Amino acid sequence: MKLPVAELHIHLEGTLEPEAILRLAEQNDIKLPWPSLEHLREQYEFSNLQSFLDLFYTNLAVLRTRADFHEITLAYLRRSDAAGVRHVELFFDPQAHQERGIELGEVIGGIRAGLKEGEERFGITHKLIACFWRHAPAESAMEILRTLVAEGHDVDGIGLDSSELGYPPILFQDVFAYARANGMHVVAHAGEEGPPEYIIQALDLLKVKRIDHGIRCLEDDALVQRLVKERMPLTVCPLSNVRLRTVNTMADHPLKTMLDRGLNVSIHSDDPAYFGGYLDANFEAVKRELGLSTSEQATLAKNSIESSFLDEAGKSSLTAQVDEWLAAEGQDR
Ligand code: ADE
Ligand code: ZN
Repeated sequence: MKLPVAELHIHLEGTLEPEAILRLAEQNDIKLPWPSLEHLREQYEFSNLQSFLDLFYTNLAVLRTRADFHEITLAYLRRSDAAGVRHVELFFDPQAHQERGIELGEVIGGIRAGLKEGEERFGITHKLIACFWRHAPAESAMEILRTLVAEGHDVDGIGLDSSELGYPPILFQDVFAYARANGMHVVAHAGEEGPPEYIIQALDLLKVKRIDHGIRCLEDDALVQRLVKERMPLTVCPLSNVRLRTVNTMADHPLKTMLDRGLNVSIHSDDPAYFGGYLDANFEAVKRELGLSTSEQATLAKNSIESSFLDEAGKSSLTAQVDEWLAAEGQDR
């Protein structure tokens, strides 16, 4: 039995594998700067978040049609089923597609069709979260958000992603207030490369229910205490942090420290096609390099379920599956 988990920090566009990028480029007649798979693979060496985002935004240009979005969503779910994912809250970047002239309805329709087929085939339940770019003006986010609401697009929540340094959450206060007023769930990337102050702003000004990454909270003791007290979820992405050099090596990753300090952390794959693996690879890496016990792994899985936007019945049923896994591993709870 695979450890059942909820994947809460996963960018759809970050699941585009190199082979799929070249196939879709050919199919959709898109010219990419890399003449071969070998050249493309040579680009996957990152020095920081921006160096990765430059490649990520170039490659996602191969996505053009509703069928493309459907296909890559289903491919992600097939791979994640094998990794033990039972529920997913999937991010996508609406601005990345709208600025290329692709209708929001095509993007969301294709993703939703993929999510529906994935639930039928693999039993993976889902939510969909539109992430706004912090490097773009808040007016652009607001305009898209108003359209999503006015046209009744099927989106469960909003997030905030892209280049972090220099783009504090305060810039998006009105956008998040509008989303909350319209009953949407709200999350934000903060404390990946940015300082603890950005986490505090995301909590106080955006009133988010989860912090994506959040690892730099450890630099501020009072903030750690607050996050523990509020049981604020932090969706940590170990392989991503190593590949984007926010931590030096997996052995230096603060995940275990975060668990030991009582933070509500869970682990996720972020952009698995870029960072060396899906959720199972993230679990394997932290087990191997940080020596996480079976009960610590179960805690990470239970935290992911508790931190999801599932209803209480959905959470209880998945949590019971984690207990079954623990029993099968021969451990006490
Ligand atoms: N977009 C895709 N992956 C991201 C990450 N790790 N941080 C910020 N924006 C992203
Ligand atoms: Zn992310």
